[in-house]
Amino acid sequence: MLVLGIESSCDETAAAVVDHTGLVLSDVVHSQVNLHAQYGGIIPELASRDHLRNIEPVVSEALARASTTIHQLDGIAVTQRPGLVGALLVGVQAAKGLAWGSGKRLVGVDHLVGHLLAAYLQRSELRVETPQFPYVCLLASGGHTGLYRLESSKPEDIVELGATRDDAAGEAFDKVGKLLDLGYPGGPTIDRLAKAGNPSRYSFTVPMQAKDSLEFSFSGIKTQVASHVERHGKPTSAADLADLCAAFQRTVVTSLTRKLFAAAAREGVSDVVIGGGVAANRELRETVLAQAQKRGVRAFVPDIASCTDNAAMIAYVGLTALERGESSGWDLAATSRTALARATRKGRGMR
Ligand code: KG4
Ligand code: ZN
Repeated sequence: MLVLGIESSCDETAAAVVDHTGLVLSDVVHSQVNLHAQYGGIIPELASRDHLRNIEPVVSEALARASTTIHQLDGIAVTQRPGLVGALLVGVQAAKGLAWGSGKRLVGVDHLVGHLLAAYLQRSELRVETPQFPYVCLLASGGHTGLYRLESSKPEDIVELGATRDDAAGEAFDKVGKLLDLGYPGGPTIDRLAKAGNPSRYSFTVPMQAKDSLEFSFSGIKTQVASHVERHGKPTSAADLADLCAAFQRTVVTSLTRKLFAAAAREGVSDVVIGGGVAANRELRETVLAQAQKRGVRAFVPDIASCTDNAAMIAYVGLTALERGESSGWDLAATSRTALARATRKGRGMR
């Protein structure tokens, strides 16, 4: 089976071709990061217009790199939710047009499920081991942060165990990046600068430490960095900047990993997975692998290209749906909210 995936939920226009074994035959990502960088965040209207400009060349490139044509496909999967509706609409309409014109099946995919199953993607002929259901996945991106239990790849079998009450982890990286004049997005830059820093020179408190809580809060960590800057001014030397980045990153990584392993223990699973843009973070990846080894659980840390937004993960989720005999109708609509059941209400304040 061969599926084309299309992704346009936020600031990446992406298309990919994946086969039934999860092998990624092509993966094209056009990032809009330079377009939005000057505004310090994503401007939805600009995002939609740029998706419109790029969707056709990106899809053509994905088919060409996979040495395939639309006629050889078994279906077309597209991110239907959650995201910016105007941005999603571009991908959804393109997918509908392609599916209608070629007589292929259409499948709407939840972007979060894409991140949660990205560990199944195979990016080389040397196959990597994949997790076994049930497993717990930490999804940490720019728009979402939460812990999920997956009983199978079906959205109905995915349960949110706890999520952030306020900002997503990636959002905190980006806001701290802005505060320290590091440009947008802040995550990759903070990751790079933190490498040279001493994480213990400044100490920030990890929020939501109650043992039984699997919820997160990241806006408090960002506020602690802001108060530090208010009191001491912005770092003036490279060493001070590196130490501040390292301390902030350590606090976020500690919060994410503590809750991930608490969730795995509570749920009695032996496999843990990470996904989303923040799962590209070097310290998070290393800490998850080291802690897993200590605790005797298996950790799955996907390739960085599978963690950040991509269409291969969307194609893979589409494949699992097609294999179950499921597909979408022509009334498939773009929607801003996830279909996954939510357990955490935002904004109840810190515990
Ligand atoms: O999953 P993603 O590509 O898009 C969303 O669905 O949100 O995640 C983007 C987020 C941004 O907030 C970015 O700063 C963060 O992931 N990010 C990182 C790293 N690479 C990307 N955060 C920390 N360390 C990184 N290396
Ligand atoms: Zn994402």
